[in-house]
Formats: sequence, C-alpha cells, structure tokens
Amino acid sequence: MSKILIAYYSRRGENYVNGSIRQLAVGNTEVVVQKIKARIPDADVFQIDTVKKYSDSYMTCIEEAKQELREQTRPEMSHPLSSIDAYDTIILGYPNWWGTMPMVCYTFLESFSFRGKTIVPFCTNEGSGLGSSVRFIRKLCPDATVLDGVAIHGAEASSADAEAAEIANLALGK
Ligand SMILES: Cc1cc2nc3c(=O)[nH]c(=O)nc-3n(C[C@H](O)[C@H](O)[C@H](O)COP(=O)(O)O)c2cc1C
Repeated sequence: MSKILIAYYSRRGENYVNGSIRQLAVGNTEVVVQKIKARIPDADVFQIDTVKKYSDSYMTCIEEAKQELREQTRPEMSHPLSSIDAYDTIILGYPNWWGTMPMVCYTFLESFSFRGKTIVPFCTNEGSGLGSSVRFIRKLCPDATVLDGVAIHGAEASSADAEAAEIANLALGK
C-alpha cells in the first residue's frame, strides 16, 4: 500500500487568536498535524518552510504576506522534498493567509506532478474558512483529485480531534 504524506506549513510565534495577539509555541496547523499523525502513524510528515523567514511580529508578517500575494511570489522552500512518487495521497495543511494559502504552498504544489494523486486540504483560520485556497489548489494540480477540504478555527486547534479524525479518514478513504 502506498504511503500517505502529511505536508504542512505553520508559523509559530505571534498570531491573532480570538481577537487578540498571542504567542504560539506551536502553530495551530502543526497542532492539527500532530493529531492527524497520531491517527495515521505510518504517514510521513513534511514541514513546508521558507528560506526567508517571516517577521516574528504578527503585524509585520501580515504585511509581508500581503505583498507576497500581491506580487505572486514563490518563496524558496528551505528543505525541498526530492520526490512525492511514493505517495498516492497527500494531506496538505496550511493557515489561511489573506483568503488563500501562504505563497510557499504554491511553491510546493508547483514543484511536483500531482497527476493521479489525491490531495486532502485542510486549513486553520480565524474566520475565513478555506477561503479560495481549494480553488487555487485545483488550478495548480489539474490532474489530481482535490477533495473539498476541512476548515478548522485556529483558536480551537488543540481540541480539533473530530476534524483531525475526519481528515485522517478522508485520506484513508474511509
Ligand atoms: C499573514 C497572516 C494572514 C492571515 N490572514 C487570515 C485571513 O485572511 N483569514 C483568516 O481567517 N485568518 C487569517 N489569519 C489567521 C490564521 O489563518 C490563523 O491564525 C491560523 O490558525 C494560523 O495558523 P498557524 O499557527 O499554523 O500558522 C492570518 C494570519 C497571518 C499570520
């Protein structure tokens, strides 16, 4: 049986949580990834990260991210994967940034052919749900089966057990 890959981007540090700025020791998306991994112990986990780090300051980071979106930047990944050939199913987790994925997720999706693969998107957010992200994933991966995706309120990531189970079951085809 082919393996499942859990690929995700998540940013630790200052973030906007339920109306105020808080310091997150572990990013919300990463918290959910840990819950999914607990349900699919055989899955490989790959953290999508950037060479150029975003500001620790939430306010500065949102401006950096806005500019990247406006300019359609493709930030360089810090530890690119060599191949996704071993995987039929990829769970892709990310925070909602300005209504879509962080731009490095675009870099990731453009790095491989996803032909014949199934992508299970999930996103943590502070109210905008999945935004336009799934539409963009479908555009970037026209030959993949892209599921509708699961949205999770970032502030409730630590209690998102039902959502993590839903994502794991989707990936396992249950
Ligand atoms: C740069 C930036 C842009 C964001 N834009 C949105 C947004 O458009 N809609 C939304 O609901 N939340 C937005 N958020 C909140 C994050 O989606 C939310 O806090 C998420 O759970 C963070 O996940 P992480 O800790 O894994 O990075 C934004 C946060 C950042 C840092």
